[in-house]
Amino acid sequence: MNLKTKVGIVGGGPSGLMLSQLLDLKGIDNIVLEKHSKEYVLGRIRAGVLEQGFAKLMREAECGERMDAEGEIHDGFYIAENGIKHRVDLASHTNGKSVVVYGQTELTRDLYEARAKRNGKVIHNVDDVKLHDLKSKTPHITYRSGDDIIRIDCDYIIGADGFHGVSRKSIPSNVLREFEKVYPFGWLGVLSHTKPVSPELIYAKSERGFALCSLRSQTLSRYYLQVPLTDDVKDWSDDAFWEELKQRLPDEIADVLETGPSIEKSIAPLRSFVAEPMRYGNLFLAGDAAHIFPPTGARGLNSAASDIYYLYHALLNHYNDGDDTGLEKYSETALARIWKAQRFSWWMTTLLHNFPDSIEYDKKLQKTDMEYLFSSEAALTSLAENYVGLPF
Ligand code: APR
Ligand code: PHB
Repeated sequence: MNLKTKVGIVGGGPSGLMLSQLLDLKGIDNIVLEKHSKEYVLGRIRAGVLEQGFAKLMREAECGERMDAEGEIHDGFYIAENGIKHRVDLASHTNGKSVVVYGQTELTRDLYEARAKRNGKVIHNVDDVKLHDLKSKTPHITYRSGDDIIRIDCDYIIGADGFHGVSRKSIPSNVLREFEKVYPFGWLGVLSHTKPVSPELIYAKSERGFALCSLRSQTLSRYYLQVPLTDDVKDWSDDAFWEELKQRLPDEIADVLETGPSIEKSIAPLRSFVAEPMRYGNLFLAGDAAHIFPPTGARGLNSAASDIYYLYHALLNHYNDGDDTGLEKYSETALARIWKAQRFSWWMTTLLHNFPDSIEYDKKLQKTDMEYLFSSEAALTSLAENYVGLPF
């Protein structure tokens, strides 16, 4: 069977769904191909801090209602070290900007519901997606559905299929450049139906390792511990997790920590990754397909948002005005912001974690960086402007 659309989108995660919804609202026909079921996609526990740019895009996509009703506006967070909490006042260092705390699972659900309301073409459980004739004016996608091979002819293909997707791998190896940094530790994350220990996030640096106190709502808490890459989640009972978390927090916080059974518990490695270019012929990469961030700076989802913002406007200008400037400059524009977010994520990860093999000189630098941060308005402004999100 042959299908035809203007924009073929591979991947039904936040990136693919957001672009699909934005284009559809402007009458630009598109089809989303998703490898897994909707339930599987919604079952993934992911990030929870949205830059204002992402929140604005959700509203522009007519998907922001629940986020605005249930999400929490945070205009600051804490960095704790050696039992002392320092508040990073985002608003006062960014002329009033803030972030929205709202789970990625929820926003993906909102995007799915919005696509369904508009009868958006999101095809699940597709197999063997292949991209063809990317350098031609008639690129197309094929995929298998049962015994049938389906072909989709399109003007453009958007690779929003995450790190393990087929899109980035469709760029010839003599064209693609990959940059990667692997950190020597992971994050053990726990989700629990408990009252969050703090109304604002706490990034805690301690001799025992990093810890993060976050939340999804006033009854759903999200906590993380830095753990060695050799750890297995089976090694961590709930009790062991809570005890270790208390050891890494200031006493005043540990004393009021509400513990409870984990409803999700997993270990994720930390790494940074960028693929260049983010365009090959009529294939455009977006989100995790092109870049991965350590979760420390909460940049992953927010960087997917800026890719989608640039692609959305580039495609609008192409179809409405015949102006291809945005498409021509997409890779350069997206990468400029991605690398700034990579820098911030690397800086925050380096500042807050214990590096098993770090030399004494680096430990002194880390200590000095923390002292400088809380002794300089300029340093705090730099942290704050990156955390709320650099302009798109
Ligand atoms: N064909 C079709 N779909 C695919 C294929 C394929 N060959 N390979 C992967 N996919 C789907 C995955 O099942 C997933 O649902 O592409 C989607 C990619 O979604 P994400 O991995 O969530 O990536 P993205 O939409 O860019 O969102 C980035 O999600 O992973 C987090 O930390 C990341 O917060 C960031 C955000
Ligand atoms: C989360 O709530 O999952 C979260 C929040 C902030 C981060 C990373 C993860 O920096």
